[in-house]
Amino acid sequence: MRKPIIAGNWKMHKTLGEAEQFYADVQGEIPDPAKVETVICAPYPFLYRLAGLSEGKAPSVGAQNMHWEDAGAFTGEVSPVQLKDLGVNYAIIGHSERREYSNETDETVNLKLKAALGHGIIPIVCVGETLEEREEGRTEAKVSGQVKAAFVEVSRGEAEQTVIAYEPIWAIGTGKTATSEEAGAVCRTIRNTLGELYGGETAAKIRIQYGGSVKPDNIGELLAQPDIDGALVGGASLDPESFLRLAEVA
Ligand code: G3P
Repeated sequence: MRKPIIAGNWKMHKTLGEAEQFYADVQGEIPDPAKVETVICAPYPFLYRLAGLSEGKAPSVGAQNMHWEDAGAFTGEVSPVQLKDLGVNYAIIGHSERREYSNETDETVNLKLKAALGHGIIPIVCVGETLEEREEGRTEAKVSGQVKAAFVEVSRGEAEQTVIAYEPIWAIGTGKTATSEEAGAVCRTIRNTLGELYGGETAAKIRIQYGGSVKPDNIGELLAQPDIDGALVGGASLDPESFLRLAEVA
C-alpha cells in the first residue's frame, strides 16, 4: 500500500558535469516509477539543471535543505518558493549533519516542514539518535520526541504527504548499519508515535525510510521489515550502478 521511496542524499559531492553524467547513466534504466519512487537530493547549484534533465521523469530532484520563509534578508539561504520554481519537489529537512553543524533545531525543522507542505514540496524529515543515546536506552524517547516536535501544527492531511527518515547518527557514513531488526523496531516506534498524533489510519499511510550505510547488499533485508518503506542513502547513491541496484531491489 505504501510505495517504496529511495532517495539519494549526495551531500557536498560531485561537480555539475558529474551530476549530469549520473542522470545520463540512470535515466531510462530506473525501474517503473509506479512501483518505486526515486529521488536525488543534490547540492543547490545543480538543482536547476537536474530538474530540467528530469522533466518529471525519474529520478525526481530534491534539495538537501531549505529556509522556511518565502523571501527576505536571509543571506545564503534558499526558499521553498525558489525551489518549487525550479521544479524541485522534495527537500530533506533536519538531517543530523545540519542539526549538528548548522544550528538546525526541532523548532526550525517544524517551521521548514510546514513551509515545504505549504508549497507542495514533499519533506523528508530526518530523525535519529546518537550512539550515546542508544547506549543509554534513550533511542525511542529521542526519536519520538523529534517526530512530535516536527509535526506541531501539521494537519492529518498534510502529515500524509510527508516522508520520515530514521537515521541513527552512529550509522551514517561509518559502514555500521543498524541490524534490520533494530531499524525496524525504531521505525515501528515512529509509526506508533504518528498513530498517537493522527490515528492508526493516517500513520499507516506515512512512509518511513531507514538511512545509515545502506548499500545494495543490505537494502533487501531492511525493506523486508514491515515498517521500513525505503531508504535515504548517502555514499551508495553517488554511483549510478549502485543507485540503480537499490531502486531495483526496492
Ligand atoms: O542522508 C543519508 C545519510 O546520512 C546516510 O549516509 O553514507 O551512511 O549512506 P550513508
